[in-house]
Amino acid sequence: MFQNNPTQHPKKSMKNKTFLITGGTTGIGLATARLLASEGAKVIITGRNPETLAAAKRELPGAIVLKSDSSSLEESLALGAEVKKHAEKLDGAFA
Ligand SMILES: NC(=O)c1ccc[n+]([C@@H]2O[C@H](COP(=O)([O-])OP(=O)(O)OC[C@H]3O[C@@H](n4cnc5c(N)ncnc54)[C@H](OP(=O)(O)O)[C@@H]3O)[C@@H](O)[C@H]2O)c1
Repeated sequence: MFQNNPTQHPKKSMKNKTFLITGGTTGIGLATARLLASEGAKVIITGRNPETLAAAKRELPGAIVLKSDSSSLEESLALGAEVKKHAEKLDGAFA
């Protein structure tokens, strides 16, 4: 019924959904986090810069904000373990 008109597709709630957004403290990543949070999702965002990490936490107090450098394998593995502490499962990841 909605196949030919995506604008009429019923909107699904983002409540009880959890998303990981690496590089989510500024720019496109933060915009994605804002949108998902505004729809009721739990968002976990990462970045490296302490100032923008803190600013993102101020803007999205419900978000889990973690310092992690995606270019580091060690930090990425540690991030996986940290994410598990905050979420049983992820419904989506932007990486
Ligand atoms: N999750 C995603 O899929 C994602 C997120 C953002 C950007 N992007 C891609 O980047 C392009 C440009 O994005 P943009 O204009 O928004 O700005 P950008 O400067 O490319 O990205 C900004 C975000 O990425 C973080 N970031 C950059 N290098 C990182 C690293 N090594 N580890 C962890 N975080 C890192 C920044 O935080 P710090 O400076 O504090 O590290 C900030 O949160 C887009 O084409 C997009 O595809 C993808």
